[in-house]
Amino acid sequence: MTLGYVGGEVADYQMSAFLMAAYIRGLSFDETAALTAAMVDSGTKLDLSRIDGVKVDKHSTGGVGDKTTLVMVPMLAAIGFKAPKMSGRGLGFTGGTVDKLESIPGFSTSLSLDRFISQITEIGAAIAGQSSKMAPADKMIYALRDVTATVDSIPLISASIMSKKIACGSDFILLDVKVGNGAFMKDIEHARQLAHTMIAIGRNLERKVGAIITDMNQPLGRAVGNALEVREAIETLAGSGPADLTRLCVELTAALVNLADPAYELEEARSNAEAALKSGAALDKFAEIIRAQDGDEGVITNPCLLPVATIVHPVTSEAAGIVCEMDTAGIGRAASALGAGRERKEDAIDPAVGVVIQKKIGDTVAVGDTLAVIHGNDPDRVALAEKIVRDCYKFGSPAGSPQLILERM
Ligand code: URA
Repeated sequence: MTLGYVGGEVADYQMSAFLMAAYIRGLSFDETAALTAAMVDSGTKLDLSRIDGVKVDKHSTGGVGDKTTLVMVPMLAAIGFKAPKMSGRGLGFTGGTVDKLESIPGFSTSLSLDRFISQITEIGAAIAGQSSKMAPADKMIYALRDVTATVDSIPLISASIMSKKIACGSDFILLDVKVGNGAFMKDIEHARQLAHTMIAIGRNLERKVGAIITDMNQPLGRAVGNALEVREAIETLAGSGPADLTRLCVELTAALVNLADPAYELEEARSNAEAALKSGAALDKFAEIIRAQDGDEGVITNPCLLPVATIVHPVTSEAAGIVCEMDTAGIGRAASALGAGRERKEDAIDPAVGVVIQKKIGDTVAVGDTLAVIHGNDPDRVALAEKIVRDCYKFGSPAGSPQLILERM
């Protein structure tokens, strides 16, 4: 049916009926695995056998302020692994990894397969836009899920994510499954089910897959918006990034290294990941990636070369107390309202705009304190984003910071 859909023999109404049935009744594991395999077979599979070394990949199920790929890919290459990364553009909150990288002047994410492979062979890493030839069934089915309200289904999400990961050819894949009010999965039980399903699909298709469930009840790091996130990723690679982002990148990198080469104990893998940041090797690797992909590596030492917004506006608090809850998706909507994300895939995004969070869960706030800083290019959009951001904060009794890493699988 999946191949028939790509070939035009299965009509939208038939696929919609299937998706609705899968959404309502669920799919057994065998059905989910068969759907994934059919989606992989609908297009080209990347053959990475020409590249020597251990090929590793990571995937995040998505969240607000998630710029881990920008930090982890250079870290993995600096440690000595091969990191071929194919990423997408974003729909919704902010751009995807490709949009973020394209905020670097000149940076190209459209790499031919030969160029992608030779760059990985030469410098250990490349980050390119996902080829439309890979898992085309997923692209078509996702568009249909979007308009038939069938996105929110664990078997369909698992098949969608894993078909792209399998088609990309890495042997070892680490999944960062986000849970919380800024993620697809709102509770730990559903996050566990999603992680288990994707790990089992990987095993079925002879890939080694691990997963870590991590918190998304507040934005990751502080920056939400494309160039702002690149800037924060550079700070993190330089050792001066936000503590939560730095810790998550170290833990995910260590887990992936341990998955790919169990000779590395987790503790040793963690030390290697930290050393890649501390020594500057990961930052140097990011500069190499930028240079190899025609970008202006001057952004590393001079982030002002990234697009900057004309309006920088603080959102001050009208209340006092301790931040006990944040509407994470709301912060994403504020960034999107400024132009950092797109509603429809043909929309243009503004790379300069976004929100930089100053106060997070557990922080004490006085009236007049800055909760967040808005970077915008349009006064009306800035006013709208200001209102959204202020409404995202809830004050109450001390809750402490949420635990960042919830479970390892
Ligand atoms: N990400 C994907 O790639 N697919 C989904 O279905 C959901 C999130």
